[in-house]
Amino acid sequence: MGCREDSPTAGSTSMGGATSSCANTASPSPPGTRSPPSYRFLGGRKLLEVGAGTGLWAGLLSAAGASVTAVDNQSWNADAHKLMEFEYGKFYPVERLDGLEAVRRYVDHHALMLCWPDYDASWAGGVLEAFPGDRILYIGEGESGCTGDDRFHELLDGWLESEVVEIPQWDGVHDDLYLYAREASCTRGRR
Ligand SMILES: C[S@@+](CC[C@H](N)C(=O)[O-])C[C@H]1O[C@@H](n2cnc3c(N)ncnc32)[C@H](O)[C@@H]1O
Repeated sequence: MGCREDSPTAGSTSMGGATSSCANTASPSPPGTRSPPSYRFLGGRKLLEVGAGTGLWAGLLSAAGASVTAVDNQSWNADAHKLMEFEYGKFYPVERLDGLEAVRRYVDHHALMLCWPDYDASWAGGVLEAFPGDRILYIGEGESGCTGDDRFHELLDGWLESEVVEIPQWDGVHDDLYLYAREASCTRGRR
């Protein structure tokens, strides 16, 4: 995926945390997940999370110091989201908004987060294509995995993969947090 930057820390950040045998849940990230220091990658940029669901990751990154706007069109499993909220409380305010509209509205947000864009759905590719900023945080599986569609992964290939951060995973799931910079704004070997 993408072209890998020669970074000594690539793939080295392990967060530990809870795991569960239940991958079929409202949240792709197991309870107990904590934010890795990825907010530093933002370099002060405002972060727009699209498809934020219950706002778990928006909340984690906000608590770590990032300025975050979270949106979701709430097309997905509203009951499961309500159950999550009931069990764990509200993680972060999530505005009901379509991803493309959000990218156009929040043009001052130069970092974009996509956590578990639905398998084979085209919306994440559309959002990625329209995004004018220069940092991407993507949580999901690789090209032949269960997140995003072919177009989405093709588009990611045009970005520079800066770091792959290990995160707690449900059993049988192989997701990581991928950090990407736009090619033109990134100097190889620099962090
Ligand atoms: C697999 S879920 C992941 C949710 C969340 N990121 C998480 O980790 O819990 C995909 C999310 O994308 C949202 N979604 C789907 N199409 C969207 C669109 N066009 N604009 C914004 N959000 C969208 C769904 O409502 C759903 O919450």
